[in-house]
Amino acid sequence: MNVLVTGGAGFIGSHIVDRLLSQGYFVFVIDNFDNYYSQEIKANNIRHNQDKKNFKLIRGDIRNSDLLRETLKDMDIVFHVAARPGVRGRLQDSRIYHEFNVTGTLCLLNECLNSNIKKVIFSSSSSVYGESKYLPIDEKHPLNPISFYGATKLAGEKYCRIFSEIYGLPIIVLRYFTVFGPRQRPDEAICKFTRLILRGERVEIYGNGEQTRDFTYIDDVVVGNMLAFNSETKWGTFNIGGGQRLSINELLKLLNEACGTNVMPVYCPKTIGDVSNTWANVDEAQRILGYVPKVDVRTGIKKYVEWAINQVGSGS
Ligand SMILES: NC(=O)c1ccc[n+]([C@@H]2O[C@H](COP(=O)([O-])OP(=O)(O)OC[C@H]3O[C@@H](n4cnc5c(N)ncnc54)[C@H](O)[C@@H]3O)[C@@H](O)[C@H]2O)c1
Repeated sequence: MNVLVTGGAGFIGSHIVDRLLSQGYFVFVIDNFDNYYSQEIKANNIRHNQDKKNFKLIRGDIRNSDLLRETLKDMDIVFHVAARPGVRGRLQDSRIYHEFNVTGTLCLLNECLNSNIKKVIFSSSSSVYGESKYLPIDEKHPLNPISFYGATKLAGEKYCRIFSEIYGLPIIVLRYFTVFGPRQRPDEAICKFTRLILRGERVEIYGNGEQTRDFTYIDDVVVGNMLAFNSETKWGTFNIGGGQRLSINELLKLLNEACGTNVMPVYCPKTIGDVSNTWANVDEAQRILGYVPKVDVRTGIKKYVEWAINQVGSGS
């Protein structure tokens, strides 16, 4: 079976690729190596696979319909992971968010419909919910994103629904809640804090640090994707979370413990795009897909810090 992973050189996509390769699938990646963060990091994420016979990297853009048409001819399944991420995206970048996350998704869905694709798994985000009206957040929670990123992921979801329900393309939408683990994006809190802690520098916390996040370990997100891949369901939207939440102050405490340090925070004004709390209700994902998060946040943080220390040691 041939599988396409869009954005497969990124944090989450590269882990999905590893799992698929280990299970013997032929894996194709389309990634444009967008400069949101270092292209070198993205190249490192997939370097270990480049000589594998069942792996092919295509440097290209999901808005290129000709490229998609040609690539999708031989594909069975698509994991659509590519996006411009980041809830703090600036006003001046709003068109890029729209281009990558809405136009890109629309191009891909059109070409999937015109080829023989059996299923699309779309990486969405808890950002589609906006400020929580209640916790934990289930899939029926109102959808009022407060960032360009969240709005464009929601638009992507709406297109998925039309392609699936009206045009019959099987699609599963997975809403991830703050994913962390090895290869995490450098702009995300756990990665940023760990980098600063290991350098002995102070950590900036936006707001008073009492905002909470449901942190989800990457292995659970990969399992969520594999469950969606193997499920008979033809349409559905599911939260993929870690199932527990932590304040940013608690997060810093855990990172300090794992690193054996006592780095103090500097509190800065809250930023646009950041919601106060996230916490996933994953009952629906459990009921339909059999998803149960396995890695609790404390264990995940220890694993992440071990990995980050090794990276520093190896000069990566
Ligand atoms: N990391 C998280 O906490 C998180 C949370 C919720 C949802 N998500 C979603 O998961 C997915 C992956 O996120 P990530 O954290 O791994 O981000 P990432 O930036 O590491 O990965 C995204 C990849 O997509 C590629 N890409 C972007 N635009 C493209 C385009 N037009 N054509 C081809 N490739 C393109 C980038 O180069 C990058 O390698 C995204 O869809 C994101 O919205 C992530």
